[in-house]
Amino acid sequence: MPAAKRLFIGLMSGTSLDGIDCAIVDLSCDSPALVAADCFALPDDLRRDILTLCANKQAPLAEVGRLDIELGRCFAKAASNTLASVGITADKIEAIGSHGQTVFHQPNSAAPFSLQLGDPNTIAERTGITTVADFRRRDMAAGGQGAPLAPLLHQHCCASASENRAIVNIGGIANITLLLANGAKMAFDTGPGNVLMDYWIAQHKDVRFDANGEWAEKGLVNEALLNELLNEPYLAQSAPKSTGRELFNGTWLHERLDAIAQKPHPQDVQATLLEFTAATLAGALNTGLGQGGVYLCGGGAHNKALLNRLRALMPQNTVTTTTELGIDPDWLEAMAFAWMAQQTLDGIAVTTAPFTGAKTPVLLGGIYPCPTSTGMN
Ligand SMILES: Nc1ncnc2c1ncn2[C@@H]1O[C@H](COP(=O)(O)OP(=O)(O)OP(=O)(O)O)[C@@H](O)[C@H]1O
Ligand SMILES: [Mg+2]
Repeated sequence: MPAAKRLFIGLMSGTSLDGIDCAIVDLSCDSPALVAADCFALPDDLRRDILTLCANKQAPLAEVGRLDIELGRCFAKAASNTLASVGITADKIEAIGSHGQTVFHQPNSAAPFSLQLGDPNTIAERTGITTVADFRRRDMAAGGQGAPLAPLLHQHCCASASENRAIVNIGGIANITLLLANGAKMAFDTGPGNVLMDYWIAQHKDVRFDANGEWAEKGLVNEALLNELLNEPYLAQSAPKSTGRELFNGTWLHERLDAIAQKPHPQDVQATLLEFTAATLAGALNTGLGQGGVYLCGGGAHNKALLNRLRALMPQNTVTTTTELGIDPDWLEAMAFAWMAQQTLDGIAVTTAPFTGAKTPVLLGGIYPCPTSTGMN
């Protein structure tokens, strides 16, 4: 008899603010099985207000509180709509793992913290499903960076004893997980994934991202600008390390543009930003992976021009997507938070040390229980 299903929902809204990813996952077997998934756009005004909050950091507390609730409502709706679309009722779900929307990530200060909005009380109350959230802060309390955490699932379902593997998540920020055939592993944020490319094209064209990297592909890489970008000290820091919009944002880019003598054409800036993402990823992978398989996931895995550059910069490696490993690259992050919710509900402390630098295994996240959320099938 097949094992009874254990259904969980993962909710993820990343740095790009492109939408809320919702994945329903069956975690009854060793490898997670995706049951259904969808992405829900954030309302334009909410997206704008979150971007303002991320950029300004001096927002009134009332605004922080309001956005926390508004986002919680959106997360709840994303979960409920996905369930309705496949005719699964809330009582069949054991728990939701909700990452929340990062608005401030400061892992290296005297009092390190990471702030994710999207009130889990609201999610639990509106969906009737036990919600696990606030994953990053426990890791930080244990001395970790709080990020990246998705490598926990990468390690669980993508490691191989016969191939050195790297899972490369190209979201707003890019992170890599190195899983060597000899069992060695590590992970860290390499720097920008799409965040600067998205910023720049939105300044010059009425679009949110450069579809397939087509605009960038027809531009010319400006070497002076590329060198300025590559001079960023974060890139030379050793792992564990994590970053976000706090560092890599429009202001950061304009400072580098101001530092070079001749202003490049906007399209050449786009080409240079794509090359910057490719170069920082390839640099980290060429150092840490040796020869092996590079598996892309996240929205940037759809950027064909970026894929071509990564292939050119890493000729010794095969560069494909996690589809090759049987995992849909669009939903891996959301699935990871569903999996983390299961670990927490099952009382399993996870070892984040190789990825975040935490000093001890950690039971990640707070639990917001719902008595109706039995997960009984
Ligand atoms: N066809 C495409 N061509 C180029 N870029 C794309 C395409 N589709 C998606 N993207 C990029 O992917 C981004 C969204 O990716 P994703 O959702 O993985 O990032 P995220 O929300 O920042 O996640 P996280 O920070 O958790 O990794 C978009 O903002 C866009 O830049
Ligand atoms: Mg996203």
